[in-house]
Amino acid sequence: MSAALSLGHAASPRMLEDVPRLRYVVIPPRAQPDFRTAALEGLAEQQPSIPSRFLYDSVGSALFEAITLLHEYYLTRKERSILEAQAANIVAAVGRRIEIVEFGSGSAEKTRLLLGAALQNQKSLRFVPIDISQAALQSSAVSLLNEHPELDLVAIAAEYRDALQSLPVTSVPRLFLFLGSNIGNFPRLDAQSFLAGIADQMRSEDRLLVGIDLIKDPPIIEQAYNDPAGVTAAFNKNLLSRVNRELGGEFDLTGFSHHAPYCPESAKVEMRLVADCNQWVRIEGMKGSLRFKKGDYIHTEDSHKYSLDGFQKMSGDACLTMEGQWLDEDKWFALTLLRKI
Ligand code: AVJ
Repeated sequence: MSAALSLGHAASPRMLEDVPRLRYVVIPPRAQPDFRTAALEGLAEQQPSIPSRFLYDSVGSALFEAITLLHEYYLTRKERSILEAQAANIVAAVGRRIEIVEFGSGSAEKTRLLLGAALQNQKSLRFVPIDISQAALQSSAVSLLNEHPELDLVAIAAEYRDALQSLPVTSVPRLFLFLGSNIGNFPRLDAQSFLAGIADQMRSEDRLLVGIDLIKDPPIIEQAYNDPAGVTAAFNKNLLSRVNRELGGEFDLTGFSHHAPYCPESAKVEMRLVADCNQWVRIEGMKGSLRFKKGDYIHTEDSHKYSLDGFQKMSGDACLTMEGQWLDEDKWFALTLLRKI
């Protein structure tokens, strides 16, 4: 998201210009608390937190892209290796002529493997990327159009739920994508209702491909979220920089450390910013100061891991049934193809 957008200026629809082969659909987000409201509210809680969606401003998104290149962050590499081996089979399981719809496409780098596989079977392809960030949509749309003269894009800038109500009408089967373990960011019940919301809009011929990070030896997971180069730490601490920059905060960035413990009981990684010493922090416009004792922390993100059984059960509860499943050779990551029951 560009700085201007994240500062809450009205997103000008004029920014997004339709060109041949590219149509934009912009649905303004429902009133979600802005950064100031959400951060001040979260920081005042008994267990301070800042909602994870605020990690992904333009700096945070760039840092996340850097994370995906780290060896320790196996998720991207494993998912890509599955797609490299299976894209043709996945696409074939949907149909001879299909359309692809992606939630949270980001840079759409791995998606290119599926687009390429579909274009082996059909002369043209409609791709519908959905993202809340207009800036992310625009930059990936432009590069995709340049790479693939066979693509037609309908780029939807909206929250996922709203976008589902505004999908372009089509007569061919749709392949919905929710990749990258992005589903892991949702609390499990929200993940289930998100899947159920997609199922609700799916026709019998449509399919949904979901990427999940599997439960595994805890140290492997912890290393992925605690890289020695400190990229994940920088990604996490960017939240404090944002508070300082955008909300007039006075966080001392050297007074907090990145921690990301994996809890096997809940099968999730919790990202935290832990106070290294007792301190008070002021934020402009806030009554009083925030008090942190040494060891207190701000909760910034959850990454849920799944077992194959657990994911299957959740899919069933969301009215979806498994039609195909592909794992990498270490069984660290899984792609599951679902259809509506
Ligand atoms: C973008 C949500 C899939 O949870 O693995 C990476 C975000 N946070 N390192 C994940 C993240 C810390 C990532 N997702």
